[in-house]
Amino acid sequence: MARISTMQQPILAAPKVGRLSPPEAWSSSRSLTCPLTLHKLLQGASSIPLPAGNTKYAFQASQGKANGSSFNGGKVKQTRKHVAHPALAPTRKAGRCTVIAAPAPTITAARTASRPVETVMLSIITGTEGDAGMFGSAKVTFVSKQGERYPPNGLEISGPFAHSTRKDPKQCKLPVGFEVAGIIVENPKDMRIDIRVLAWLAHRLDVKIPVVNQNLLNLLTSLPFFKRLTDGDWYIYQLELAGGTGAGEKQVFPLFGWVEEASVRLAFDGTAYLPQDTPPGLTSWRRKALIVNQNAYNYQPYNDLSKPPNNDNYLSPDFRPTLDPYPQHVQAPRTGPDAGTIPRDETFGLSKSKSFTQGTLRGAVNLLWALLNNGGTGPILVRDVAAGVAVGYFVGTVAEQFLTPDVLAAAGQLLDGLLPGAVQSVVWFVFGKLPVKTAAGGLAGLATGLALLLNDVKKLSYTSVEAYAKSCFKHDFRLGPLLIGYQEPWVYTLGEQQPDKAWNTDFMFGWQTVAGINPESITLVTSEKQIIGGGTITEEDLQKVKKELPTFDKDLKNKQIFILDFSVLYEFMNTFNNEAGKKAGKHLYAPVVLLRQADNEHLGVPVPIAVKLAKGEDEIVTPGSDSSQGKWGWTLAKAIAASGNSGVHQLGQHWLRTHAVCETYALAMRRQLSEVHPLFKLLIPHTRYTMDINNKARVSLINTNGVIESNFSPGPEAMQVSAAAYRGWRFENENPEQDLKARGVLDKSALPNYPYREHALEVWGALREYVREYVDLYYTGSQDIADDYELQAFWADVKQAHSSLDTWLKIPANLPKGAEPGLVWPDLKTKDDLVMILGTIMWAGSAMHSVVNFGQYDYAAFVPNSPASIRGEFDYAKLRAGEYTERDFMAAMPTAFEMTTVMTVVEALVVHAGDEQYLGQQSEAAPPGVYPPELTADPWLVDDKASQVYDRFVARVNKAQEKLEGLNKAAEKAGSPPYYYLLPRKDMADWDRNVPAQGVPNSVTI
Ligand SMILES: [Fe+2]
Repeated sequence: MARISTMQQPILAAPKVGRLSPPEAWSSSRSLTCPLTLHKLLQGASSIPLPAGNTKYAFQASQGKANGSSFNGGKVKQTRKHVAHPALAPTRKAGRCTVIAAPAPTITAARTASRPVETVMLSIITGTEGDAGMFGSAKVTFVSKQGERYPPNGLEISGPFAHSTRKDPKQCKLPVGFEVAGIIVENPKDMRIDIRVLAWLAHRLDVKIPVVNQNLLNLLTSLPFFKRLTDGDWYIYQLELAGGTGAGEKQVFPLFGWVEEASVRLAFDGTAYLPQDTPPGLTSWRRKALIVNQNAYNYQPYNDLSKPPNNDNYLSPDFRPTLDPYPQHVQAPRTGPDAGTIPRDETFGLSKSKSFTQGTLRGAVNLLWALLNNGGTGPILVRDVAAGVAVGYFVGTVAEQFLTPDVLAAAGQLLDGLLPGAVQSVVWFVFGKLPVKTAAGGLAGLATGLALLLNDVKKLSYTSVEAYAKSCFKHDFRLGPLLIGYQEPWVYTLGEQQPDKAWNTDFMFGWQTVAGINPESITLVTSEKQIIGGGTITEEDLQKVKKELPTFDKDLKNKQIFILDFSVLYEFMNTFNNEAGKKAGKHLYAPVVLLRQADNEHLGVPVPIAVKLAKGEDEIVTPGSDSSQGKWGWTLAKAIAASGNSGVHQLGQHWLRTHAVCETYALAMRRQLSEVHPLFKLLIPHTRYTMDINNKARVSLINTNGVIESNFSPGPEAMQVSAAAYRGWRFENENPEQDLKARGVLDKSALPNYPYREHALEVWGALREYVREYVDLYYTGSQDIADDYELQAFWADVKQAHSSLDTWLKIPANLPKGAEPGLVWPDLKTKDDLVMILGTIMWAGSAMHSVVNFGQYDYAAFVPNSPASIRGEFDYAKLRAGEYTERDFMAAMPTAFEMTTVMTVVEALVVHAGDEQYLGQQSEAAPPGVYPPELTADPWLVDDKASQVYDRFVARVNKAQEKLEGLNKAAEKAGSPPYYYLLPRKDMADWDRNVPAQGVPNSVTI
């Protein structure tokens, strides 16, 4: 029986769909993506013929007179005659939304085994005023299992509706005496429908829109964020149909989606069914809802990183070719008013939006503050301000001569045509208050000063590590609730406390290969051929290494030699170094690193023994190559290796393997799995916000000339590096066990101190068991899997989103001679196959992303430890002469502006949003006030049996947390740092962290 889940789990996010247009508009503006509207479907649905033998069955509403029939035990009885209730008069004329909820069990004591209501339709009439969401009215239509709707035009009810964040939510009762046919209502007065709604309301948010004038207000309210505060759309958590028996039972219809004005929306009861087990009356609704999704969610290749019109201009330097092969992403309109929007159910919720925006703003302030604290900024500031004043004075003088009232009036007319009304208002407000000369001169001076300042500041760089640290980390102060300034990254703090583990030690370089932001690259070396066969390290290089390390052969035999290979960057070196890199004074390398691990040294952590900067470079750099004081040459070689890691990590491990790949799972899920499918309920927490964060990244992070291109050394080739990494991507290697095995490090004898492995296997074990138990609930064997046409369509859709890789692999010339492409996709035939596939998908969105994302501030915000780019070329002569200095090292680091930009970005990437939801979350761990407590567990898992499976998962996660904390304590006792990126619980890690980043979120959200 359906019930409100009392387990604790993250609420399913707030999925969203880009603004849906009114049905009548779909044929025009959205015809490309939504040719078949639900509205039309519903029109069709109303004419679904009743099966023979059910002609007496009908839904009824009455004033309580027992003169009709009701549904009992699957049989139809006489129900009361419908009498419209006087309270049902429509209260609003504004847009209309329709929600159709397909239910499950009945809700009365007499419901035994019967399932009389198969679909409930809820129409919501929303207004456009600020409080419309709370006090609008709704229309409910119950639909029989045969598909018949009653009342045909819906039953209108008025609010206020339950508000999820209010302490005393009111419920909207159905009219007294109203009876849903088929539900035996013993006490009609208690019959009610409870709509849990999150409305984006100005009054709820306490946002006062500053009213400068009507034009400005119009502009503000036309912006997406403010529009949400003022429109009449509702975000509905779930519908509950309750009462009637006094037993407190509820029938729950999870929705977690937007119901927008003049749109139509389906919601289904919480009970899960495989498609082949779907009750007959539900089948058509299930199919209809999927068709709507298949029209709303479409695939698009990565052909939009350079925005129109430049993306069609093949000769433009800003043109970026389509990534191919590459996973596809969610389609978003390229032009028009909806340009760049994705389906609204997938967009950030308010809490997430706020933290995202705050993070960005805070980052900008930090960046500015750090630059102002740079010793070199002061003189530049004075000089550029002086230049600005001079230009301002000159422009003001000229303006006084020429800007007569007539000219101003003409300019005003011009502005009328160019600027939105509100902007004009601001401009004229400013001009109107000042003398023309002052206003024009001031503006010109300000613009000049800022332009000069930005240009000059961009050239600044630090001359010592201390100067950098002092500029960035030593000037924290509080401004109200805001902490201004960058906090010290963990790797820097640790070095101050324990110099033998400082950022520039060999230990710390090695530690990061087993517990840093990319612990999924280190690979066991089993033969010399493996080293030389890559083409970067030569036989001669290897002899040099062996000379310096006489135990090399023995170490190799004892599984103590490892390799880090970033040679995927090699194919981009020429282009970058001759074009973008040349202009920016940067140099791209494609490093390969050899490491050695000895049990009794460095706490069992492998340390670097040689760095080859790229294929064809002069020589391999070893610790012994550098005789300089402070070993700044060796430190630089390691930093260059770290910069190779930085690019490969960001574009391959992070973006490709989690963000881009998980978006394909989210899309396939939306398109092919009905909301009543048990696997939809299992997967949706692990797809939350992924489309939106990726969409935002495509606009400002990985786009042409975006943050990644501007700050990471592959530059304009950055996403091509990601595409190159994708050519080696295989679904089968994406679960941690298989990945560790493929790198030869699953066996503990290979790397005794490998925190990532120990933690990953623990979390993976808990996740896999959860999936196994869950699959067992719904599938008895292979036949069920074969019969589950939605699952098969889902898997086919995932493959379709990756079909460019399959096509690419079929061309023999694309692989090295004799190399096998390997299996891209596992079979989906048995329950074991299904468990592995689902586990891999859920792992990628949750734990794998935590591993590669949340350590970024700890390690990459201290830029010398992990520079995103390198300036200038490595000087082998200087190395041989032992002349490398700290100043040389810092000259090779990114500029101060680039450093602080990257620090700002990684800071934003590791902060958890207030509404973040975690693996195996319990409701008491959920942030207060964001969701009603009972909805903080997984609200889609309404079935008792599924809830129990989830409860056991929660227990396993608790156990894993306990074990991992124990491992960390033992590690610390042994003098090793802890590892916290896979601690599932947010509130239990007790390491003195600078940035709050504990806990494994369910999905890729940042
Ligand atoms: Fe991320």
